[in-house]
Amino acid sequence: MTLHLCSLLVFFMLQALQSSTINSINASSPLVQNQTLVSGNEIFELGFFTPDGSTKQYIGIWYKNMTPSRVVWVANRDKPLERTDQSASLIIGEDGNLKLLDGQRSTVWSTNVMVKSNYSAALLSDYGNFVLQDRNANIMWESFDEPTDTLLPNMKIGINMKTGKKLNLVSWKGKDDPSFGRFVLGVTSETPSQLFIWNGSSPHWRSGQWEKTKFVGIPAMDNTYYNLQQDNAQGTSYYSNNNHNNSIFGYTFISSEGSLEAVYWVNSWFTYYKAPAPDKPCEIYGICGSFGVCNTSSSPICRCLKGFKPRSEEEWKRGNWTRGCIRELELNCQKSTNKVASMTVEKVMFWKMELMKLPDSADLLITYDAEGCRSWCLENCSCLAYSYVNAIGCMAWSKDLLDTQQFSNGGEDLFIRLVDTSAGVDVDVVADTGSGVPLRTKLIISLSTIFGIILFGAGISVCGLSKWRGKLRKMTISRLFQSMAAAIRSKELPRETAWKEQMKEGDASKLVVYDFDSIRLATDNFDAKNKLGQGGFGPVYKGKLNNGKEIAAKRLSSNSGQGIAEFKNEILLISKLQHRNLVRLLGCCTEGEEKILVYEYLPNKSLDAFLFDSKEKAKLSWAVHFRIIEGVARGLLYLHRDSCLRVIHRDLKVSNILLDEKMNPKISDFGLARMFEGSQVLVNTHKVVGTLGYMSPEYAMGGTFSEKSDVYSFGVLLLEIISSKKNTCLDYPGQHLNLLAYAWHLWCEGRGLELMDAAIVDTFSTSEVMRCIQLGLLCTQDLATDRPNMSAVVLMLNGESDLSQPKKPAYTFQRLQAHEVQSQEGSIRSMNTITITTVEGR
Ligand SMILES: *[C@@H]1O[C@H](CO)[C@@H](O)[C@H](O)[C@H]1NC(C)=O
Ligand SMILES: *[C@@H]1O[C@H](CO)[C@@H](O)[C@H](O)[C@H]1NC(C)=O
Ligand SMILES: *[C@@H]1O[C@H](CO)[C@@H](O)[C@H](O)[C@H]1NC(C)=O
Ligand SMILES: *[C@@H]1O[C@H](CO)[C@@H](O)[C@H](O)[C@H]1NC(C)=O
Ligand SMILES: *[C@@H]1O[C@H](CO)[C@@H](O)[C@H](O)[C@H]1NC(C)=O
Ligand SMILES: *[C@@H]1O[C@H](CO)[C@@H](O)[C@H](O)[C@H]1NC(C)=O
Ligand SMILES: *[C@@H]1O[C@H](CO)[C@@H](O)[C@H](O)[C@H]1NC(C)=O
Ligand SMILES: *[C@@H]1O[C@H](CO)[C@@H](O)[C@H](O)[C@H]1NC(C)=O
Repeated sequence: MTLHLCSLLVFFMLQALQSSTINSINASSPLVQNQTLVSGNEIFELGFFTPDGSTKQYIGIWYKNMTPSRVVWVANRDKPLERTDQSASLIIGEDGNLKLLDGQRSTVWSTNVMVKSNYSAALLSDYGNFVLQDRNANIMWESFDEPTDTLLPNMKIGINMKTGKKLNLVSWKGKDDPSFGRFVLGVTSETPSQLFIWNGSSPHWRSGQWEKTKFVGIPAMDNTYYNLQQDNAQGTSYYSNNNHNNSIFGYTFISSEGSLEAVYWVNSWFTYYKAPAPDKPCEIYGICGSFGVCNTSSSPICRCLKGFKPRSEEEWKRGNWTRGCIRELELNCQKSTNKVASMTVEKVMFWKMELMKLPDSADLLITYDAEGCRSWCLENCSCLAYSYVNAIGCMAWSKDLLDTQQFSNGGEDLFIRLVDTSAGVDVDVVADTGSGVPLRTKLIISLSTIFGIILFGAGISVCGLSKWRGKLRKMTISRLFQSMAAAIRSKELPRETAWKEQMKEGDASKLVVYDFDSIRLATDNFDAKNKLGQGGFGPVYKGKLNNGKEIAAKRLSSNSGQGIAEFKNEILLISKLQHRNLVRLLGCCTEGEEKILVYEYLPNKSLDAFLFDSKEKAKLSWAVHFRIIEGVARGLLYLHRDSCLRVIHRDLKVSNILLDEKMNPKISDFGLARMFEGSQVLVNTHKVVGTLGYMSPEYAMGGTFSEKSDVYSFGVLLLEIISSKKNTCLDYPGQHLNLLAYAWHLWCEGRGLELMDAAIVDTFSTSEVMRCIQLGLLCTQDLATDRPNMSAVVLMLNGESDLSQPKKPAYTFQRLQAHEVQSQEGSIRSMNTITITTVEGR
């Protein structure tokens, strides 16, 4: 997804200081104007608010402590109260319903449900759901059933065809007016569903078809938090952002200008996806008309599909594409009345377009595979195009092809039916990539990729592999096939199941395959007293083998989600990666469901046991602190650069740093590490794995990670080591929201040394400490491109290279901005508990 880092939200709220909070509205306790209702863990808050520039007031919900915050739900959006009305209240009426009363005690808004119980109370859940419930906590009404313009995590929008009930988002009319605007975000009932934004009744934006983890039209989206669930039997289709344990705070909303915006909290609010975006005209529905295709980076952005020409050359040249394109050559079968007869005469070809946002109005043909899909389309003259998408199946189009777009990456292949004018040439392989890569090169690349995957699955030495693949690229196609055949003959390609033997043979001296019983014996049948901790994928036990050797056995929980493939991945990786600052893998063990990794045992446990323990941390001198920082940096540099592969750790944190008897740090838990090729810079992942507080903004929000995500985690870790404080702990002097904000503040005021933990009393080099802090701030800059890479980090740590000035991070921005706004406004409108003020983005 496109990252719009640092773009600030338009709404801003300030709470009046005198407000008091309650946690339930019931018959004896209404909500009055200087009060707010808060959720159990104070995540959400509900109360009266007035948008800036408005003379009306409303009941709304917003995130409580994450400022600047935006109203995510409004009760009385089209029934406002006057701002001057000081005695409005939200009460439980005699009929058990929630009622909003104005100063004259007349009902302005009500939940209006049948309440059977003689008792009701309204609460705000930690998910932001405002619920009316009876004594037995049966829900009688909930705000999640009446969305306004915002989709919170765990809330859903969609459609139930049986009941006809739609849950849509409707935009505010304007920034200061929550009443119904003209833009609606909803889910279509077709299969597969799409998200649509409608402007009144005309389509304004379309997500493309849902393909299991993402929409065809949003290639960068690949995030397990999002889900579209379609149940054809029930006639339902719901889209949601699942986040059951509330580990991510955010929301998606439809703005009054008609854009869908997704926003997340990571130290500060980030808009990380916006569509249609002002700089992406191709995202406007059907901008190029029928049979036109849009490419953001070409000029003009619209062209006709292959085999089509503008309906009106003149209008097209003027940049008026609304009438679209028409066929240059009519399809014979369409002209003829006797369709079957003419079919045999006509030569039809399919023109392949890659990287496509597939057109709107697809028909899903569930019974066909890719080949069947093609021949079905070939045989049916009404079929204008087809596409076979693995996660969806066969789709065919019989209406005008509308709203297509060609991406620079992602998207799907679309095959367009054309009259074949070339005599006798098989045109089915012609690919319109627009990228100008010669076909042969492309073939080699894709072949070598497939080849590489086979090899890796088979467990060939991973280090040898990358060299081999480098060689592959230089071969011609025929030589490639020859060498493939030769490789198969010489058994260079072991079978999938052979990985275990491969390991035994290849690395017998280093990597051992243990049998399950010996591990069970060594750990006293995985006795709780031997448990060292809980790693990423399961518990870790201390064990003592028959020969007296101490080990740490990581028993992967079967529900860990780590399949045999990931398991092999980890074994292969770790056995190849050897460095003094990485934990050594001694061997592994599988039996049935059991998967166990056997590591060297490190007597001093993990760094967090020292750092965050008041007694233990006093034992560590600054010199030891610095050595640990240096060691981690070197270990990480090895992973990123010096090992034969480029490995990203992805879950670097204090508890993943183990210490040996000499307090040398060793990075552990490579289960999450993924390999990636030298040429690739970013990789999209299917799962966001990591620990909050250490995740870089781009990783936490979009799921994209790079080496620079590790650098971010390293920066957090560095500051934690210096301060002996957790980044996510909320208890910093001066009300700084986290360690990074606090460190930045001290650094700016030249008081960096105050960050250092008071327990470090021995001598230290001031310049060394200051350098570390500056480096920590450099590593945690918002933009990945601003962060140094690990080789630069190691040089800077040792003072062999100068440090640049870190950029101001976004997360301190909010507070500074609050003060600025306050002084600009002179006096905040304080008649109501909350004021919303518009703030310019920076
Ligand atoms: C009504 O709510 C208040 C707090 O808002 C609570 O103290 C009181 O116990 C509630 N009354 C009943 C009957 O639940
Ligand atoms: C505000 O709350 C206080 C108690 O916290 C109460 O005495 C006062 O009457 C309230 N003011 C209004 C306008 O409701
Ligand atoms: C409300 O209902 C409960 C249970 O049905 C009953 O015990 C209670 O007496 C009722 N209270 C009133 C005021 O009717
Ligand atoms: C929405 O539709 C109205 C009326 O058709 C039009 O004037 C307006 O420009 C449209 N807005 C956008 C953002 O396309
Ligand atoms: C939240 O839930 C997800 C999925 O259930 C899980 O993978 C993740 O570890 C949980 N996170 C926390 C902080 O509990
Ligand atoms: C889009 O247009 C640009 C500029 O003409 C071109 O370089 C690029 O290859 C095109 N992309 C596709 C996918 O056609
Ligand atoms: C574009 O073409 C359509 C159809 O001919 C016409 O109705 C419309 O006014 C044109 N728009 C502009 C901006 O010229
Ligand atoms: C051809 O396709 C059209 C549109 O999908 C469909 O209505 C029609 O039944 C198909 N005809 C045949 C013979 O399959």
